Amino acid sequence: MNSINNIVILTGAGISAESGIDTFRTAGGLWEKYDPAEVASAEAFARNPDKLLAFYDMRRGTVGEKEPNPAHHALGRLDAEWQGGLLIVTQNVDNLHEKGGASRVLHMHGQHRTAWCPACDARPEWSGTFADRPPCPACGSPSLRPDVVLFGEMPYHLDQIYPALRAADLFVSIGTSGAVYPAAGFVRDARDLGVQTLELNLERSDGSHWFDETRLGPASELVPAWVEELLGG
Ligand code: APR
Ligand code: ZN
Repeated sequence: MNSINNIVILTGAGISAESGIDTFRTAGGLWEKYDPAEVASAEAFARNPDKLLAFYDMRRGTVGEKEPNPAHHALGRLDAEWQGGLLIVTQNVDNLHEKGGASRVLHMHGQHRTAWCPACDARPEWSGTFADRPPCPACGSPSLRPDVVLFGEMPYHLDQIYPALRAADLFVSIGTSGAVYPAAGFVRDARDLGVQTLELNLERSDGSHWFDETRLGPASELVPAWVEELLGG
């Protein structure tokens, strides 16, 4: 492995699976129970906001009290000890990376921790519900919504993610099926830039063939072992 200084890590629902948070596309996943077009798309939000808001109220309720697993703690350790560049780009809307000790985290699909008011663009911390149309704490308008990127909306922080990929020496993908773009395309962007690529996943993903190396297994085992290896254990 060439000398590594700048690392970009992409995480998906698989890193939170062992914390008891449903994944989306693995057996028994969320999209087997709900149609994302009905509960997670901008079109559905425009057509039937109450149904979407109730879905996110339910999601926030189930995710809220979950705890980080050894994979989150290992990335928290890496964040604390790694002297080079590090960016954790997560597709997850839970706050388990932060609870696990990581701070160099970008939530490209938004997060449950905050709400968003399209009327005044405020993003207040929020632990309440949305279906009852609470007034925005900043401007009072009843337009508060989940601060989550819906299908058909632009992911957050791409202006920071692509420069980080360009400056990276290593791109690591953890617990994602490689089914949703633009995140699923990061590995190819990295390869085109000559960046080393590593995948840590329970099973082969849609993007496995693009990685220099794929390690299969649960994140709670693979991630601590990889961090130990990287920090020269
Ligand atoms: N350890 C490691 N990987 C795991 C584990 C585990 N314990 N359990 C499941 N996985 C892997 C699965 O094999 C799968 O490849 O995690 C991946 C989860 O894939 P998805 O459920 O598709 O989740 P994700 O890739 O994060 O979805 C991307 O799609 O619906 C949207 O916005 C949503 O952010 C989400 C995006
Ligand atoms: Zn407002």
